[in-house]
Amino acid sequence: MKANGQHYRTIWINDRDSHVVQIIDQRYLPYQLVIEDVSSVEQMARAIQEMRLRGAGLIGAAAGYGMYLAALNAPRHSAEAFMRAILAAGETLKATRPTAVNLGWAVRRQIAAIRSAEDDLEAKAQAAYDTAQAIADEDAEFCRRIGEHGLAIIEEISRLKNGAPVNILTHCNAGWLAFVDYGTATAPIYAAHDRGLKVHVWVDETRPRNQGARLTAWELGQHGVPHTVIADNVGGHLMQHGLVDMVITGADRVTYTGDVANKIGTYLKALAAHDNHIPFYTALPSSTFDWEMRDGIKEIPVEQRGAAEVKYIDGWLDGEIKTILLTPEGSPAANYGFDVTPARLVTGLITERGICPASAEGILALYPEKR
Ligand code: MRU
Repeated sequence: MKANGQHYRTIWINDRDSHVVQIIDQRYLPYQLVIEDVSSVEQMARAIQEMRLRGAGLIGAAAGYGMYLAALNAPRHSAEAFMRAILAAGETLKATRPTAVNLGWAVRRQIAAIRSAEDDLEAKAQAAYDTAQAIADEDAEFCRRIGEHGLAIIEEISRLKNGAPVNILTHCNAGWLAFVDYGTATAPIYAAHDRGLKVHVWVDETRPRNQGARLTAWELGQHGVPHTVIADNVGGHLMQHGLVDMVITGADRVTYTGDVANKIGTYLKALAAHDNHIPFYTALPSSTFDWEMRDGIKEIPVEQRGAAEVKYIDGWLDGEIKTILLTPEGSPAANYGFDVTPARLVTGLITERGICPASAEGILALYPEKR
C-alpha cells in the first residue's frame, strides 16, 4: 500500500546479497516514516518484542525473514552446528510474543524447508531465503484475496442502503501495517473504496498502545478512506443509534472451532454487535488458524505486557515523541494484550478461500485438507 504516495511493503529485502532485511519501525508512526535495517535473528526478535513491527501476519513474515538471517549467520563448519543454530533461532523468535499463531507457524515452515534442502549449507540458506520470500508473498496475496471476498459483503450492505455510506467499525490495526500488504480487516474496505463504494470507518483508538488511533487512522488517511477515530468505549453507543452497519476485525489466532483471539476489547465490541443485530466479521489468512486448539478461552495464551504501556502514553509534541505519565505514579496497572471472542458471536470468517461460518464445520469445509 502507499505511504506518502510511494508503494511499500512492511518488510522486505532489497538485494539478496546485502544480507539485510528492512522494516518500517511502527513505533514512530503516524509522525515519522522510519525505515530500519535488521541483520540478525536477535535484532529481529527484539524488533518483534519491542513492537517495532507487530500484527499477526507481519510477525509471521518477520519470523520467516529472521530464520533466513539465522541461516546466513549460522556456523558453517558442520551440518550439526548449523542446524543447532537454526533450531535455537526458532526458539528465540517463538519466545518473543505468545498469542499470534503465525509466528510459530512461520518458524516451523522454515525449519522444515531448511531441513529438507540439500545437505550443502549454501542450499539450506537459499531455501531459507526462498521460504521467507514465499511467506511474505503469500501473506500479501492472501490479504488481497480476503479483500475481494469481503468486498461482496460491503457491496450488499451498500445496495441495501441505496449507495449511502457503509459505516464499518474496526478495532486495533488489522491493516497493511499488521501484514505484509493490504491487511485483513482493511482489505475489503480498501477494495470497496477503490471500486467507488462509499464507506466510512469508525476507528477504535485501542488502548493501551493506540494502534487504531495511530496506525489504522494513518493508513486509511494515506489511502483517502473517510474515517473517524473514536475512544474505545464509543462503539456500543454508535451501534444503538444505527451508526454502525458492520464490524470487521482481524485476528491473532482462531481455533478450528471459530473462537477468535484479537486485540483486547474485541470481545466487548462483539457483544455489543450481537445485542444490536449488527454483523461481526473477522478477517484472517489461513496462517492464523490454530488447527490444534478447540476452546479459545481455555487454550489460547494471552500475552501480558508491561504495566508502563497502560500507565504512560506516547504522543507528538514539539517535533518529537514524548511519553507522559497518565495514572497516579503508585497505582499498579495490568496489561492484557488480547481477548477471545467466542465463535457464537462471530457472523463469519473472511479468509483467502472465501467466507465461512465460525464453526469447525464451516472452517473445515473451506480447508478440507485439515480434517
Ligand atoms: O499487539 P499487536 O499490535 O501485535 O496486536 C495484534 C493486532 O494487530 C491486532 O490484534 C489485530 O487486530 C490482529 S490482525 C493482525
